[in-house]
Amino acid sequence: MDYASYNGEISKEPQISLDQGFLYGYGVFETINVAQGKPVFFDDHMERFKQSALVMGLKLISHPDQIGRDCQRIIKKNKINRGALRVTLSKGLKADNLLITARENHYDRQIYEQGLKICSNDAIRNETSRLVTIKSNNYLENLLILNEAKARGFNEAIFYNTRGHLAEGCMSNLFLIKNGRVCTPARDCGLLAGIIRNRVIQLLKANHIPIEEGHYTKEQLMAADEVFITNSLMEIMPVNQVDEVSYPIGRQTLTDRIDALFLQTWGRGSRSQ
Ligand SMILES: Cc1ncc(COP(=O)(O)O)c(C=O)c1O
Repeated sequence: MDYASYNGEISKEPQISLDQGFLYGYGVFETINVAQGKPVFFDDHMERFKQSALVMGLKLISHPDQIGRDCQRIIKKNKINRGALRVTLSKGLKADNLLITARENHYDRQIYEQGLKICSNDAIRNETSRLVTIKSNNYLENLLILNEAKARGFNEAIFYNTRGHLAEGCMSNLFLIKNGRVCTPARDCGLLAGIIRNRVIQLLKANHIPIEEGHYTKEQLMAADEVFITNSLMEIMPVNQVDEVSYPIGRQTLTDRIDALFLQTWGRGSRSQ
């Protein structure tokens, strides 16, 4: 998609400063789903963005309302009905720099119907790192592991932490279901508390579906009845395989019911396309 916004100016080829974001990955970002021409869960993203900026000592000069208006301008300029926005704040010399870019959202109905295959990987997630709980520009390890997983025919790879507990995927949060109880790694496992993860937890509580945040092992994952992963662009995605173990997906699964509740409650997102 052609147009980007850099510090409020829209152009096809923004003059990006060679700031510490570029040189050292010193920055934070949000990836925001766009459905029916509107950013989805925008306020949630802005809350996390402000929080990430604070942790990294970055100054968010633009008010979230202004960022919202800039996002709308980018959506309009790029004529996006369905897609994704990335809002990046990077450390500049004098002031911090705000970049908004747009791209496609490739998750389509067929992918949900087939489900995803995910694999373990041997890189250990350091749950004490100050980078794992914020959406920082330091994504290289996730990207390398994801590329390796893709080369092996998988769609996503999961991290375990130093204690051998499940943490998250390279680009998603993980949920497993056992005997009607939905379980997701607790925040102290070393993960990004995803916008969709939070919404799913909220949704399950409101609908009296048992949900717990805890510390789970690979054995528990392998013995699960169902598995799904979440992020802003895929929302709720069924998993049909982890390493060599298969899981049911589709009608009659609790994942399907949760997905239906999600759409019924918030109604936008990938699956409404
Ligand atoms: C490492 C990681 N964990 C979790 C998530 C899910 O976050 P969200 O639901 O806010 O998109 C992402 C999203 O890209 C991610 O990269």
